Amino acid sequence: MPDRTVPPEVVILPGTDIDGEWERFEVFEALHHGMHICNPMTSEHLDALIDALGPTPGDRMLDIACGHGELLIRAAERATVRAVGVDLSPWALVRAFETTKQRTTIGTIEWLLGDAKRAGGDERYDIVTCLGASWIWHGFLGTARAVADRSVPGGRVAIGDLRLAEDVDPAAFADAHGSFPTLEAQAQMLESAGIEVVDRIESGLTGWDAYQGRIMRSVEAWQRAHPGPRSDDYVAEQRRWHQDHLRDREFLRWTVWVGRVAS
Ligand SMILES: C[S@@+](CC[C@H](N)C(=O)[O-])C[C@H]1O[C@@H](n2cnc3c(N)ncnc32)[C@H](O)[C@@H]1O
Repeated sequence: MPDRTVPPEVVILPGTDIDGEWERFEVFEALHHGMHICNPMTSEHLDALIDALGPTPGDRMLDIACGHGELLIRAAERATVRAVGVDLSPWALVRAFETTKQRTTIGTIEWLLGDAKRAGGDERYDIVTCLGASWIWHGFLGTARAVADRSVPGGRVAIGDLRLAEDVDPAAFADAHGSFPTLEAQAQMLESAGIEVVDRIESGLTGWDAYQGRIMRSVEAWQRAHPGPRSDDYVAEQRRWHQDHLRDREFLRWTVWVGRVAS
C-alpha cells in the first residue's frame, strides 16, 4: 500500500482535500489496484481506441478521470503528445505517475490530482477523453458537452459509458433498475453536443465479465494483504457490484464512442 504521500511532480488542484480523498477512494483502490484498465475494455480495445484517436506529434491530450493512466501512457509511448491526466483518487493518480516511470514514453504527461470539473481552465486540447466517469457531469449529455468544451474545433474525443442493450424496453428497465440511454439516444446526445461520430468500440459481454473478474481478484488480494473489517466491507461491496452485474449484464452494454468536434 502506498504511504499516502503525493510525489511533488503530481500537481494538486486548489481545493483538493487530499486526506479526505485518500480515505474516500480506498474502496475504489481495493477493488481496482490490480489492473491497468479500470473499465470493460480489453487491452486490444484500448489500442484500437488509440488508433482511432490517432495521436500525432505535439497533440495536446486530456484524459478526464484517467484512473491508472493507461490510455495516456500508451498514447505517449506512440507519439510525442503533451498529455494531461486528471483524477480525484490519489491512489489512482500516484499509481499513474509511478507507472509512467516504468514505461518508455516519448510524449510528456502531467498528472493533476483533483476534481475533473476544476481541471483544464481555458486550455483547449486536440484529444479529449472520458472513460467510465460520466457521473461527474451527471450523465452522458453533460459529459459530451464537457469533452466538446475542452476540445479545439475539429478535435478528437472519446466517451465510454453504459447504455441499454438493443431490444431492451427503456421504460421497463428504468422502472426496475434506473435510467440508461439507448444507443440511439447516446448518438443524438453526441450530435447535440456538436460531436460527429466517427467510430464506436463495443466491449461486449466478454470484456465486461473480464472487468468484473479483475475487480474480484483485486479485492481478494487486498483482503489477503490487509485483513480486517474494512477489507471485509470492501469484499461485501465487490459482491454487491457482482450481483448487480449478473442482474444487468443481459440489459446493459459498455460502449466507447469516438467523435470529432465540429470545426
Ligand atoms: C471507472 S474508473 C475509470 C478510470 C479510467 N478512465 C479507466 O477507464 O481506466 C473511474 C475513475 O473516475 C475517478 N473519479 C471519480 N470522480 C472523479 C472526479 N470528480 N474527478 C476526477 N476523477 C474522478 C475515479 O478515481 C476513477 O479513477
